[in-house]
Amino acid sequence: MSISVGILGATGYTGLELVRLLYNHPDVAISYCSSRQYNGKQISDILSSLRGYLDIQLEEFDAEKVRQRCDVVFSCLPHGLSMDFVPQVLDSTRVVDLSADFRLRDISVYTRWYKEHTSPGLIEKAVYGLCEVYREEITGARLVANPGCYPTSVLLPLVPLLSAKLVDPEGIIVDSKSGASGAGRGLSLKTHICEAGESFSAYAVGRKHRHIPEIEQELSSASGTDVNIEFIPHLVPISRGILSTIYVHAFNTKKIIIDELKAFYEESPFVQVLDDDMPSTKDVRGTNRCLIGIEVNPVTGKAIIVSVIDNLVKGASGQAIQNMNIMLGLDETEGLDSVPLFP
Ligand SMILES: NC(=O)c1ccc[n+]([C@@H]2O[C@H](COP(=O)([O-])OP(=O)(O)OC[C@H]3O[C@@H](n4cnc5c(N)ncnc54)[C@H](OP(=O)(O)O)[C@@H]3O)[C@@H](O)[C@H]2O)c1
Repeated sequence: MSISVGILGATGYTGLELVRLLYNHPDVAISYCSSRQYNGKQISDILSSLRGYLDIQLEEFDAEKVRQRCDVVFSCLPHGLSMDFVPQVLDSTRVVDLSADFRLRDISVYTRWYKEHTSPGLIEKAVYGLCEVYREEITGARLVANPGCYPTSVLLPLVPLLSAKLVDPEGIIVDSKSGASGAGRGLSLKTHICEAGESFSAYAVGRKHRHIPEIEQELSSASGTDVNIEFIPHLVPISRGILSTIYVHAFNTKKIIIDELKAFYEESPFVQVLDDDMPSTKDVRGTNRCLIGIEVNPVTGKAIIVSVIDNLVKGASGQAIQNMNIMLGLDETEGLDSVPLFP
């Protein structure tokens, strides 16, 4: 089978990561890559490490060409743009959208945190693409809203535990650290090496980060009650990787919590729960895996959960390919079976 795939915003970090990963996908041919700035250039002109592997000409977005050439489109555009581009192609292609435009089910929440939505009718048609939780809904879907990177790292450990009522939905604190590629490829002072290198800083402290409503939407749905969290993101001087440390009151022992997570992810090859160890971002670098470590403090009763992903893979392009695989009825690991990059 050859599935013809298009990438909108192919020259950003998530677009280029899709190109890298799809190169190894046995069922996929990349037939369309869009960029405004690099219109007419080859993709290997933009990412020299692709030279000798593949060349695809970059083109300005043209809905008619996408409709003619693509079975599946990955939209790697900034939020606020996908909602204009996706409706132009959705009648003839399936779409996995990596932006936030179709993740929030309540339109008023989207408007409050982002801007006015131009395609509100598509929100209820979109499936939230946290693969391990919504596998059934993703199968056969036409539009999948790929989850955010921080939300993926937080939801994979917490959703099963809240559903099983093993931890307290109140008072959850999430302390997340991300590498600089989380901010995209555009130049910005805060990710400049002289500003971010040899440093470690919190940002968007307070109820400010746009991933908060997405995390709360899914935690509320899992627990059946309104969940509000404390979420503090940090920028660390690495290129890729997210490590989230989650503090939550445990109603049960470490063993019961680990057993529940292992049972939930028994059929999910990309999520691994560690018995007696804490994961680091190096363990997942370049892979579609999420590793989870757990301790319970017997004095305070708090569970301390550490979750790691590669923000560009399980947090973006890898999960997007996993979603495509599920949508099309392929083995969900197709094209995603890689060992971590080390060092
Ligand atoms: N980086 C991450 O770790 C991560 C993780 C999860 C989700 N996401 C989401 O994925 C999406 C892409 O993120 P990214 O990090 O890849 O961003 P990026 O590196 O900034 O790339 C954005 C891409 O969109 C294109 N673009 C920008 N403005 C455009 C416009 N007005 N019209 C058409 N194309 C435009 C850019 O190319 P041209 O300027 O040449 O057109 C570029 O190819 C975002 O919505 C982001 O929130 C990112």
